Amino acid sequence: MASSGEQWWRDAVIYQVYPRSWADSNGDGIGDLPGITARLPHLADLGVDAIWLSPFYTSPQHDAGYDVADYRDVDPVFGDLAAFDRLAARAHELGLRVIVDIVPNHSSDEHPWFVEALASPAGSPERARYIFRDGRDGGTQAPNNWQSLFGGPAWTRVNEPDGKPGQWYLHLFDTTQPDFDWTNPEVRTELEDVLRFWLDRGVDGFRIDVAHGLVKADGLPDADLSHDRHADATALAPMWDQPGVHEIYRSWRRLTDSYATEGEDADRILCAEAWVLPAEALAKYVREDELHQSFNFEYLMTPWLAADQRATITHSLAQAEAVGAPQTWVLSNHDVVRHATRLGYPQTPGLQKIEGIGADDPQPDAELGLRRARAATAVMLALPGSAYLFQGEELGLPEATQLPDEARQDPTFARTNGTSVGRDGCRVPIPWEGGVPSYGFGPGDESWLPQPVEYGLLAADRQRHEPDSTLTLYQDLLRLRRELRLGRGALTWLDGFGDDVLAFRVESAKGAVIVLANLGSGEVPLPDGKTVLAGSLPRHHGAFVRTDETVWLRP
Ligand code: GLC
Ligand code: CA
Repeated sequence: MASSGEQWWRDAVIYQVYPRSWADSNGDGIGDLPGITARLPHLADLGVDAIWLSPFYTSPQHDAGYDVADYRDVDPVFGDLAAFDRLAARAHELGLRVIVDIVPNHSSDEHPWFVEALASPAGSPERARYIFRDGRDGGTQAPNNWQSLFGGPAWTRVNEPDGKPGQWYLHLFDTTQPDFDWTNPEVRTELEDVLRFWLDRGVDGFRIDVAHGLVKADGLPDADLSHDRHADATALAPMWDQPGVHEIYRSWRRLTDSYATEGEDADRILCAEAWVLPAEALAKYVREDELHQSFNFEYLMTPWLAADQRATITHSLAQAEAVGAPQTWVLSNHDVVRHATRLGYPQTPGLQKIEGIGADDPQPDAELGLRRARAATAVMLALPGSAYLFQGEELGLPEATQLPDEARQDPTFARTNGTSVGRDGCRVPIPWEGGVPSYGFGPGDESWLPQPVEYGLLAADRQRHEPDSTLTLYQDLLRLRRELRLGRGALTWLDGFGDDVLAFRVESAKGAVIVLANLGSGEVPLPDGKTVLAGSLPRHHGAFVRTDETVWLRP
């Protein structure tokens, strides 16, 4: 295995920037690359190691850029290639690595290949880059029963070049996102070439979109529709986690390894977005000759209950260790309800719901949600391995749960006729400055989704240098985590604190902490003679760990 130096990714904290919602430089209400570049010092101050940028490629934006029309260019909404180069250079100057998103499962229907496929006859090489099939029942019914993750059938019938209804194509997501056929070598070559394009531009790695979906079961058999993508085992579904994906990733790993420079800490990394359970199946993606990391979504979906947390953390660590990979930890991203809101609901054993919340749904207890979110983050940032943060969680932002229907843009909303409100609630533009239009998101008052008023109070400038703010908490935890190298540490559970307390020690070559998270209803006495290094709640002077509080102690 060509690998170099320290392997920075083993304990990296990686911050997800969702380009359309982070910072807008030109006042059109949509975030862009120059906006990101200007705000990068915020991340250097925060103390993260890398950024991951969601897609900024040429796209009709039917799925916020996860529908790529040109993998080698920047959408004019976000800037251009020169703007990307400036962003990457500035990030590197500030000591931040840059990870970009690769979307290999599907392209946009505006990708030249798909345009050519539509203009070409059934059975042509142009069609063979996607999954075109004849329909059932004389062509009138979809080739199988697969459903789009955004609602409705996963197949759309096309009009042939002669104008008559003809074949169907597969799209696991929106109609405008046709799935590639990964049995076609041309597809493999093309996507590897795209990886090379961005590696040559100096990116430090890729987050792989829908990494478990590229290969479909032979013959495209009907699916058992009782399985849900997030909560159930994916093992039985003919479109998910097929054994053939692993060969693709072995080949990608050989490619990224060829960019690692001997003796320098310059690995280029690959991280899978794979909604795969159980953890044993997910661990296969990070075997030594495959990907570096995969998101631990099971952790994200674990309720804030001590027994569930302990079980997930324990077996997550064991599974990663069994294959020699670092575990990753994540609580929020652009597809799920923000954790400051998720945790504001009653917690029940088993994996938790992560789907969007609308104005007609029961509303969370916002104060409780934030209190628990801060405690959960203080647990996460002590854990060995690598952690992913989603933009705005360092401000304690809640989900926008009251967006008007007219504002919603996630295709899920329309495709399910509003039954599922979709993911817009976590994608609302970031408040940088309280009391100015768009809370400083851009120079004007435009923001592509309306910002809730409470975002003004949580603006970054109101939290900076405030000892009790969520932003300061994140900074403190990240600084300690780095100083003590907790990401490289080993975790031992501690007894004697009761069933409702997560009590563990993490020790590395550079130091150690004892972490106590109280998920019970009573106060828990602090052990005698230990210094509090950090606490998730303001002003910790008591000799207790309060309910939904996490403290870090010097052993
Ligand atoms: C992934 C992305 C999500 C996108 C989907 C289709 O799940 O995270 O945002 O809609 O893939 O590309
Ligand atoms: Ca803009």
